[in-house]
Amino acid sequence: MNDISNKSGRKKLIGVFDSGIGGLTVLREITRLLPSENTVYLGDTARVPYGSKSKQTVERYSVEDANFLVRHNIKLLVTACNTASAYALTRLKNEFDIPVIGVIEPGARAAVAATIANKIGVIGTEGTIKSSAYCAAIKSINPAVSTFVKACPLFVPLVEEGWANDEVTAVIASRYLEDIKGSGVDTLVLGCTHYPLLKETIGAIMGKSVALVDSAASTANEVKRILTDRGLLNDGSPGEAVRKFFVTDSPERFLTVGRRFFGDGLDQAELAFLE
Ligand code: DGL
Repeated sequence: MNDISNKSGRKKLIGVFDSGIGGLTVLREITRLLPSENTVYLGDTARVPYGSKSKQTVERYSVEDANFLVRHNIKLLVTACNTASAYALTRLKNEFDIPVIGVIEPGARAAVAATIANKIGVIGTEGTIKSSAYCAAIKSINPAVSTFVKACPLFVPLVEEGWANDEVTAVIASRYLEDIKGSGVDTLVLGCTHYPLLKETIGAIMGKSVALVDSAASTANEVKRILTDRGLLNDGSPGEAVRKFFVTDSPERFLTVGRRFFGDGLDQAELAFLE
């Protein structure tokens, strides 16, 4: 690649998609680590949740989401949704000729690095847990690790309701985490976009000796590694970074709820029409 095309390559956007609002936790980590990067986010708020849907449906939705972002001439595609990463990553990698990364591999790598007892718990949506994608990724890194899983479908609506630190959520979390806690894991993968907001509640139940692995932070590191390897890191000033947000339904709700996930800098979102 000559210098001019490399320079325009570096300025291209990073595309990030999710089933809705939750993927903003992944985008937040990416923009914290790489503040100069230009980004475009798509939340498929019209069709959320993906977590309770079939593999075929999640795969189809994911390809449509990715197609929308690819039309923005992106340099890298991040599948921020755990369920979409679990069900559709292989298809996306085959279909698009830019680097495509999901949140499962980075999360699994961070969990294997963290465990000393070789016992890892994984929580996520019904789809993510049913797919066994985290367990397969963990075992492929270290076959000696035992995994303990639990789908926690009520966590997503509780977080979106703003009840992440409410006593109701603590009661529900205690019930969900009972078996995993009893299994003696020393590491727990927060395998869903919304769960980083539950760190306090989950941490209080699991205790200080259990490391909570946030796939969002591990994925941001992976984005940096890939862009660095390919000479595609943007060297512009952070103040000039472009942040575009699209949703397939109700930009107003996305802005209100999304601020809890992303913090400052989420000021406008446009309606997207997928083909
Ligand atoms: N973004 C989804 C995930 O990480 C959670 C919300 C949903 O079910 O769509 O799996």
